[in-house]
Amino acid sequence: MRRKLAAGNWKMNGTRADLAQVDALLKAHPAASVDMVLCPPATLLAPMVERAGTCALEVGGQYCHPNQTGAHTGDVSAKMIADAGARYVITGHSERRTDHGETNADVLDQTLAAWDASLTAIVCIGETLEQRDTGQTLTVLASQMVGSVPEAATGANIVIAYEPVWAIGTGKVASLDKIAEVHDFMRAELTDRFGTQTAGAIRLLYGGSVKAGNAAEIFATSNVDGALVGGASLTAADFAPIVAALE
Ligand code: G3P
Repeated sequence: MRRKLAAGNWKMNGTRADLAQVDALLKAHPAASVDMVLCPPATLLAPMVERAGTCALEVGGQYCHPNQTGAHTGDVSAKMIADAGARYVITGHSERRTDHGETNADVLDQTLAAWDASLTAIVCIGETLEQRDTGQTLTVLASQMVGSVPEAATGANIVIAYEPVWAIGTGKVASLDKIAEVHDFMRAELTDRFGTQTAGAIRLLYGGSVKAGNAAEIFATSNVDGALVGGASLTAADFAPIVAALE
């Protein structure tokens, strides 16, 4: 069985004072029966790992460079993220694809770099509003999956997050029917490519305006193994109920 996963992406939010949220989250879920991951900005990786201690919270980066070292001012490598004690890294978030022009090939290389550092990659895919409105959703997702997910994917080294771009931070959530259609499609694509056993072990997350009020119905949807949460992961008050909805 796939273990459920509640992942939070703090994006460019958070300073050391916000680590108090880790204490509050762990107080609410001292031994969660699902996996919990928070992905803070790079400056908070090591302090968050330290704060989480040996508790049931893993930490992840939000991006990694395809190289592990070198003359890349301002970048962070997967090995640095792992060295900070993190176990996960997000690759291919739509904000990176849009703001930094990252292509599927870039995301694939970043994911390989994550594996090289023994990190689990949370690879994000998702269609824009225009692509959705012109009926291209499944074609776009298929090409993002082929282009961004490396050949050696397993249930341990990769998680795939479906985040419709138009649902991120907008308060708009894809309909449950649409989420089910997309997640079933993703599972089928993975099965075609990797076989039933491997495909059946890879966790599929939904992301885009997930909050306490809609989490339970989203988690009850076909082939949804958890969520990648943005805004509602910033405080324990918002994130703890989402974790609880998965348990
Ligand atoms: O990576 C999570 C994200 O893009 C969703 O953000 O704020 O809509 O939950 P939000």
